[in-house]
Amino acid sequence: MAHDERPIGIFDSGVGGLTVFQEIARLMPQENLVYFGDTARLPYGNKSPDAIVQYTMECARFLLSHNIKLLVIACHTASSHALPILQQSLSIPVFGVVQPGFECLMQATRTHRVAILATTATISSSVYQNLIRQRCPDAVIFPIACPLFVALAEEQLFESAAADLIAEHYLQPLQAERIDTALLACTHFPLLRKAIEKTLPQNVKIIEPASLCAQQIQEFLCASQLTNQQSSVPTHHFFASDHHVRFSTLAKTFLSHSINPSSPNVVLGFQ
Ligand code: DGL
Repeated sequence: MAHDERPIGIFDSGVGGLTVFQEIARLMPQENLVYFGDTARLPYGNKSPDAIVQYTMECARFLLSHNIKLLVIACHTASSHALPILQQSLSIPVFGVVQPGFECLMQATRTHRVAILATTATISSSVYQNLIRQRCPDAVIFPIACPLFVALAEEQLFESAAADLIAEHYLQPLQAERIDTALLACTHFPLLRKAIEKTLPQNVKIIEPASLCAQQIQEFLCASQLTNQQSSVPTHHFFASDHHVRFSTLAKTFLSHSINPSSPNVVLGFQ
């Protein structure tokens, strides 16, 4: 069987994409992985579409310099604005998180009354709203920009009075809308899950796409015979464009373990 030991490149505006990294590492433990978090320019969610596309291209170029075989844009904001451009301009396959997010949502909803919780830039791209309307013209969609959730996650205030208050501020208007599903369409939002759950009615399903995203990549690699068949321990390289120490500290909350740069198969670098 053909095999390809080149790494998979995973990119996010910061640490949040480690949720996708973690799922890929769990499902494909033999794959070499390179992660890049653009911590110097986070948040992307309040930037202009042009800036988001430009930053995403630059980050993709950095990962391409690591000879990756496939690129995953694990950031919803970057996927919303830059995925088609990167798919057209790069010579390797590029996956994003929007399509799996949309598919998770459509699988979960029964009533087609749904909420999309995301950054301001993701909501204003209308990418989720358009996909849902194409599949289900009668859907009732509540797109809610929740930019402060990113700051709360970055400050590790996941379970705090501040998180509850801000969740209430953003999500209270949803309480009477009889939604059955809410999509966490931002890499940081799974960390705020408890505050979000407390605010939404109990029967609302809260979903996130990291696991489906990893499954789709695995299926693609298998179908294209691009999986890594080497039996050696895979390498996991992590790069951040700023605040190294902070990146590693925060990484612990997204991964189930800390990044240990002294481990022989782990590299923590600085772009
Ligand atoms: N990674 C971004 C996303 O998933 C969230 C943080 C940001 O605003 O950059 O949309």
